[in-house]
Amino acid sequence: MELMRLGLLTGGGDCPGLNAVIRAVVRDGAGRRGAEIVAFRDGWHGVLENRSEELVVGSVRGIIHRGGTIIGSSGTNPFNHERGEERIAETFAAQRLDGLIAVGGEGTLTAASRLADRGLKIVGVPKTIDNDLSANDFTIGFHTAVGTATDAIDRLHSTAESHNRVMVVEVMGRNAGWIAMYSGIAGGADAVLIPERSFDLDEICARLRKRHLQRSSFSIVVVAEGATPIEGSMNLPSYELDENGFERLGGISTLLGPELQARTGFETRVTILGHTQRGGSPVPFDRVLGTRLGIAAVGLAEAGGWGRMAALQGGEIVDVALADAVAERKVVPDPLIATSEVFCS
Ligand code: F6P
Repeated sequence: MELMRLGLLTGGGDCPGLNAVIRAVVRDGAGRRGAEIVAFRDGWHGVLENRSEELVVGSVRGIIHRGGTIIGSSGTNPFNHERGEERIAETFAAQRLDGLIAVGGEGTLTAASRLADRGLKIVGVPKTIDNDLSANDFTIGFHTAVGTATDAIDRLHSTAESHNRVMVVEVMGRNAGWIAMYSGIAGGADAVLIPERSFDLDEICARLRKRHLQRSSFSIVVVAEGATPIEGSMNLPSYELDENGFERLGGISTLLGPELQARTGFETRVTILGHTQRGGSPVPFDRVLGTRLGIAAVGLAEAGGWGRMAALQGGEIVDVALADAVAERKVVPDPLIATSEVFCS
């Protein structure tokens, strides 16, 4: 099929590497194949409101190294808005779109999948620092977030050692422990607490005591924002719900740190890395992945691969059904947990 007009949006939480996708879609779609690229502002919100701008090759000059997304993002879910689905279809018609590329995580791509099921011509590109989408080796943004978290852990090591303290570092990741696991292993953490395994506070305290008695006077504990204690052993913060009904996580370390200090007697400090993990310049891996997936998405659209998503599998770019990518959360597998346990005992 000859590509005439292709919509583009970035939805959900931003992440480093989105601009590489936008650049690739425009350079390959408009620059090489002569398509018109209509970028919608702020994810599905821009499609609902029909707010767009055309991107040409000049629009994407000098952006590959920049974090965030030049076309904005939001967590808007069209299905939570009155006549949402119809309004999206109306924008497709008004803009005479031949198709649309939706770049997003679970929320954005679930909406994309549902809209594609209803006949809208959509292809997906996976991005999220959480790395929790099935059918992908890695998602855009994950490696940059891990780099940021690892750098923070490195920095906390020296001050932990100087003051004989326990440092609790809270990282993002929603209900998957990928960022915690990767940065914990890379940063040499002494405990890595992830949602995939409920943690036992008594066991962690015993481990820290043993370590401080036998080997060292300081410790680093990495906790994923979505980690949970075994029932009854510690309170969790009360989380608000976002517009899609998911818990807005964050803050577990503010309860965990004082608990560890009270139970072990070791002076403890807490650092929440928060949105620093979503900012900054993408690492080369995310720039290259964003570029490859952006080009693959244009190719998919040209081939009429609607309802599908470009994905990285075994180092190769393949395409999978959008529905398969969002059907199940990808969680940290047991062998990787076992790897970290070699250093956390
Ligand atoms: O999904 C990416 C993510 O950064 C999660 O790790 C985190 O829980 C959430 O988004 C934060 O969302 P917000 O930017 O809406 O606070």
